[in-house]
Amino acid sequence: MSIKQRLRPDQNLLFIWQTLMSVRARTLALRALALVLAGSLLIIFTPYAVGRFINGLTNKVVAALVVGGLLFVGTEVVGIVMGWFRHRIRERFFQEEFWFLPQAISSLYFARPLSFLTERDSEIDGGGVESLRDKVWSVIGTYIFQIVPSYAMVVFAITACSYANLWLGAVALLYVVIERYFGRRDNTYVQSHLKPVIDGFKRWERRMSEWWNAIAHIKYQGVETKILGQVHDEVQEALKGDDAVWRIFFARAIVLHRVRSLSFAILLYGALGYLVVQNQVSIASAVLVFFSFERVRSVLGDLNDQQREVQFNLASVEKYRGVLTRPVPFSYQAGDTFTAEQISVALDTVCLSVQDGEERRPVLRDVSLAIAAGQRIGIVGPSGAGKSQLMGLLVRATDPDSGTVRISGHDLRTLSQETVLRYYGVIMQKSDPFEDTILGNLMFGVSHFDADHLTDTGSVTMLAHESLRKAGLDASLFPQGINTNIGYKGMRLSGGQQQRLQIAAAHFKLGLTPDRPRLILADEPTSSLDSLSEMTVMEHLQDALPDGTTLLMVAHRLSTVANMDRIVFVRPLALCDDGRPQVTMHRSLAELYAVEPLFREMADAQGFRP
Ligand SMILES: Nc1ncnc2c1ncn2[C@@H]1O[C@H](COP(=O)(O)OP(=O)(O)OP(=O)(O)O)[C@@H](O)[C@H]1O
Ligand SMILES: [Mg+2]
Repeated sequence: MSIKQRLRPDQNLLFIWQTLMSVRARTLALRALALVLAGSLLIIFTPYAVGRFINGLTNKVVAALVVGGLLFVGTEVVGIVMGWFRHRIRERFFQEEFWFLPQAISSLYFARPLSFLTERDSEIDGGGVESLRDKVWSVIGTYIFQIVPSYAMVVFAITACSYANLWLGAVALLYVVIERYFGRRDNTYVQSHLKPVIDGFKRWERRMSEWWNAIAHIKYQGVETKILGQVHDEVQEALKGDDAVWRIFFARAIVLHRVRSLSFAILLYGALGYLVVQNQVSIASAVLVFFSFERVRSVLGDLNDQQREVQFNLASVEKYRGVLTRPVPFSYQAGDTFTAEQISVALDTVCLSVQDGEERRPVLRDVSLAIAAGQRIGIVGPSGAGKSQLMGLLVRATDPDSGTVRISGHDLRTLSQETVLRYYGVIMQKSDPFEDTILGNLMFGVSHFDADHLTDTGSVTMLAHESLRKAGLDASLFPQGINTNIGYKGMRLSGGQQQRLQIAAAHFKLGLTPDRPRLILADEPTSSLDSLSEMTVMEHLQDALPDGTTLLMVAHRLSTVANMDRIVFVRPLALCDDGRPQVTMHRSLAELYAVEPLFREMADAQGFRP
């Protein structure tokens, strides 16, 4: 590493300081540092006072004794007062960051498009973001309240030694430079050799949290014993290499640190003794040098540990910084405000690919589609064809590689996503409910724009009951009605009930005026319902849609979309080399059945005859 590189501030530290600390936290940090510096000065001043006292003792001068004693007590008192201030600032600093940090990280996380976060090389999930918070928390604390104060102490101690005698100062400085050099080298050694071990630990942590969340799956498969065995094996695997690295490290860091530290102590104290005997250094100064150097020795040992800890944590921060500072292609807030009475949808030669390891794999190619406002569209096609990806384009989960997505004639890229989505009602193929009441879950999708309409609790309750009824959920079956908590990830609901709750949430949003949804996107909304329930729920949904509401619904069960105005068929890209377009629109399932052999196969397999 060149000097220039070394002097450049660490990008991860800079990211923490500039982005993850509030203005107030930075001010408090600087104040804390100022106090720490003053405190370090005081710690050096104590031996000075003691030195004066000892001078008085050796020379039997009462006045010097009194001055030394008073200085000592005064230093202690000032120290206590400053310590109290420091703790107060420290407390206020942590309180400040306690609310700011999660907020700063969440806003970076939410601003990324979904495609950034699901890419295999980034793999950022909620658990990862949570651990980033802990890492940053630790770095900030260690840096501001340990490392920087340690350095301040070292600087003052060297100054104190130099004050007694320049040569002694030079020896102390040499010791610090050498010790820091070896300390860094040892830390880098551990860091590089432990990297695979730590990566292993991280994989293991993800795995554990996956298993813990999949408790039902484990129980139903009856594989507790097998998984416990795997837990054991994976821990062993994760631990591999750890022991060896530490053994070598301790041999180097602990033993050699002691040897270096002792050698320099002997050298320095030898010289000190000589200088005292030669009357070139007073007893008072000797005491100052002795205490200062002892401080340096202990601080440097701690500094190595602190720096290693920070280095480890910064390595994790690095991984997240990569994704959380990558420029976003668009922000969900920027763009023109969207308002609409009706929504039409148009795709113009849209191409889309997904990240597949190192490469991008095309999923949709040259898709053109025009859906008039108020049309009800059924989307069908084999699993994995790209139906959900198509839906994702409409909510702008990602932008297409090329081509244009238009909502009511506007290029989606020019609109503020936030204002567009308040006119949508989205029922996703996969989504977990929240550990909240039924009512809380219904209200989740209502953005702050609509909060004003929710002040009348009576009408909210009525709307909630009405929405649940339309989705085929009877709230009175639950012990506390709509105020029943449905448990972590909705565990107290059946799969079908979870889906109905999502449909009810769409009804709930539809029932709100005036910002009710004008476009309903439903991806397999009734896949977990029996045919009879599905029929009722679908009828209610279609009836509930005010005239002019556009509906796009993906379904595998063809009866679900039998009554739609149009049918869109999505073919897997791999089956498109015959020159026909990947996505086609048809007047009915019967028409599609007549022209599309792949669809015929699907329909026949279901015994569905349009
Ligand atoms: N986050 C992702 N990262 C990488 N590839 C993805 C991602 N999401 C989907 N894919 C891939 O994109 C392709 C289309 O997926 P999509 O979910 O759109 O299929 P689908 O038609 O909705 O299928 P299904 O009927 O099973 O829901 C699939 O091959 C899938 O592997
Ligand atoms: Mg899908």
